[in-house]
Amino acid sequence: MEPFVYQNPTKLIFGEGKLDTVGDEAKAALGERILLVAGKGSARRSGLLARVEESLKAVGLGVTLLEGVDPNPRIDTVQEGVRLVRRDRLTGLLAVGGGSVIDCAKGIALAAPHDGDPWDFYSRARTATKAPLALGTVLTLAATGSEANGNSVVSRPATGEKRALYHPGLFPRFSILDPVLTVTTPPDQTAYGIVDILSHVYEQYFHRVPETPLSDGIAETVMRTVIEAAPKVMADPGDRAARGALLWSSTVALMGLVKAGARGDWSCHMLSHELSGRYDTPHGGALAVVFPAWMRIGCKENLPRFVRFANRVWGIAGDGEGAALAGIEAMERFYTNTLKVGIRLSDYGIGADRIDEMARAGAAQNPMFPLFRLSEENVARLFRSAL
Ligand code: NZQ
Ligand code: ZN
Repeated sequence: MEPFVYQNPTKLIFGEGKLDTVGDEAKAALGERILLVAGKGSARRSGLLARVEESLKAVGLGVTLLEGVDPNPRIDTVQEGVRLVRRDRLTGLLAVGGGSVIDCAKGIALAAPHDGDPWDFYSRARTATKAPLALGTVLTLAATGSEANGNSVVSRPATGEKRALYHPGLFPRFSILDPVLTVTTPPDQTAYGIVDILSHVYEQYFHRVPETPLSDGIAETVMRTVIEAAPKVMADPGDRAARGALLWSSTVALMGLVKAGARGDWSCHMLSHELSGRYDTPHGGALAVVFPAWMRIGCKENLPRFVRFANRVWGIAGDGEGAALAGIEAMERFYTNTLKVGIRLSDYGIGADRIDEMARAGAAQNPMFPLFRLSEENVARLFRSAL
């Protein structure tokens, strides 16, 4: 195992009916005046947003609303949020939605205490010198893990860029994980979320660090839990037990536990952002394309891990490259047959025209512990194999 420091300050409030605690939690953690951040309409349509707003007002909190955050959230919405925070001298933020809403709220929380362009933090032109505003979340979609980590991912459509940042002050103070709030998630978004959860585990699983039995076991349990729950929610979106299993899996996959003692690669996430930034491809869709292609190139680089993946996650007996490839194929079948998610670039209307550009940008990315080097040639080969 590698040495590690684990610190996750987010208070996780899991279970049916836990939404009722939102007013008290917000009052305790977010100050007196709150920016309530939501997406394009699902939370308003379901009545969730009105319930949250009422709960906040019932405990005496002032509320300013920012609605309309896009999937693949945009930097201009972050800028608008910063403007509202300053105008109303707000003290904290409450994100009600999926990862996009949470990440946008995190961008606002980080940028609001600083002058200048919020994009500078995502482009690494500068780092934050002041503490971010306090943030809480009410999660509505099992996917990103943003509810219990310090990451934020935002797009800048003007340049086709999508970039992630991390700040320890961006861990939410609390997150309400109420499975009931996820049952309205449509099948395609449910499926993309499932791909995302699995992808977070993959990023932290295919490492070469010896003797990591506990993180391996956590990773494999999360993957098996997700694979078992997936057909249940795809067949019956109202299956609350399966929704709950997915929700907790999404949080555990990216709250630091899987990585503890091991190493994260994150090449595929970096490459997926090249697709989402340029083509607005849904995050889970981009990962469903990139990961199988990456695995086919990478499995020879760390064959024992890929055999273990096939054996323990997909129930495939055997060893050697044949078993490793059978594991990758089982994953592909699960994506296309069970989740109905496309695994080719063409499934998302993407052709060969911008592969060279994406290969250049991909090669400029710098994962800390890549399974293989993201050279321009390797990235182009990977994207071409996924056409
Ligand atoms: O916008 P609304 O109307 O709310 O609709 C959303 C959106 O269209 C809808 N939705 C969410 N919950 C729903 C629902 N519809 C009905 N009922 C519900 N209960 O689902 C659509 C997708 O929502 P979004 O928030 O975009 O999805 P997700 O949670 O997958 O977030 C994706 C974003 O998170 C980033 C991705 O790159 C992407 O931008 N990520 C963030 C990470 C992090 N902060 O740690 C890590 C991830 O790897 C990822 O990069
Ligand atoms: Zn992801």
